Amino acid sequence: MSSSAPIGVFDSGIGGTTVVKELMASLPNEKIIYFGDTARVPYGNKSAGTVIMYSRQIVRFLLEKKVKAIVIACNTASALALDALKSELEIPIIGVVKPGAKAAAEVTKCNKIGVIGTRATINSGIYKEFLHKTNPDIQVFGKACPLFVPLVEEGWISDDITRQVIHRYLDELVEKEIDALVLGCTHYPILAGEIGKITGEGITLVNPAFECAKEFRYLLEENDLLCEEERIPEHEFYVSDGPKAFAELAESFLGEGIVKRTNVAVHNFENEDSDIKTYQIKRRG
Ligand code: DGL
Repeated sequence: MSSSAPIGVFDSGIGGTTVVKELMASLPNEKIIYFGDTARVPYGNKSAGTVIMYSRQIVRFLLEKKVKAIVIACNTASALALDALKSELEIPIIGVVKPGAKAAAEVTKCNKIGVIGTRATINSGIYKEFLHKTNPDIQVFGKACPLFVPLVEEGWISDDITRQVIHRYLDELVEKEIDALVLGCTHYPILAGEIGKITGEGITLVNPAFECAKEFRYLLEENDLLCEEERIPEHEFYVSDGPKAFAELAESFLGEGIVKRTNVAVHNFENEDSDIKTYQIKRRG
C-alpha cells in the first residue's frame, strides 16, 4: 500500500467532520475520503448487529476507494463495531473511544469523570471499561443525550431550545462535581461552546477527536503509511442522502470552500446485499 493513498473516515452523519477537522490540522498532507451515513443516522439507538452491518458496508465502500487506513469517526460505531472490523481488515483502523478515555484520564484531578454519548455508547459501558483500565479509582458518570444529535443535524447550535436540552441532560452531572466531561459522540463538539457555558470553567470538556488524530498519526508512522509528500489534498465527501444539507453544514464547521469544492456525492446502499455474512473483507493471516 502506498503512503500517498487516501485515508477513509466515516460517521453516521455530519458529526465525523469534528474528527476530520483534527485530522486536517495534524495530518495536512493526507487526502481524506469521508463517508457520512446521513440516510441512516442516528446509529445511537440501533442494535450492535445493525451498526456492525452498516459499518461493514461503509468500510467496503472505502476499500473500493483504495484507502490505506480507516478512522471510525463515530463513538457508537467505535464502541460496537471496531473489534469486529479490526479482526477482518488488512489495513490499520482506529476508533475514537480509546483515545478519548485516555485523554480524560489524564485531565481529571478529582477522579470524577462524566461521559455523554448516544444510548448505544453509554449502554455499552466502553468508556467506563477503558477508564477503569487506566485507573480503577476513577468514578464514571454516564449520561445518554440522544436529542443532541438531531439538534446538531438541524443546525440548532446557539439556540434557546438547545440550551434547555443541555440543562436537562447535564445539570445532574454537574451536581456530581465531576471535573472532566467526555464529549463521547462526534456530534457533540459542535455544541461545545454552549455546553461549556452551562457546565462552567471547573469542568474540562474532552474532545476525543483531538487525541484520536494524534494516535492515528502514530498508527500511520508505525505502518510506514504517513504521507510525507507536501501537497494540498483534494478531499472527497460522500453521504447516503441529503448532499446539499450536508455540504452546507459541514462547510460551516470545516471552513469555506473545503466541502463545496469537492462536491458531495451520494452513495446508496439500498440495492446492495445487506446480509453481513456475505461481505468479503479480507482477513489477516
Ligand atoms: N456521531 C455518532 C457518535 O459519535 C452518533 C450519532 C448517531 O446517533 O448516529 O456516536
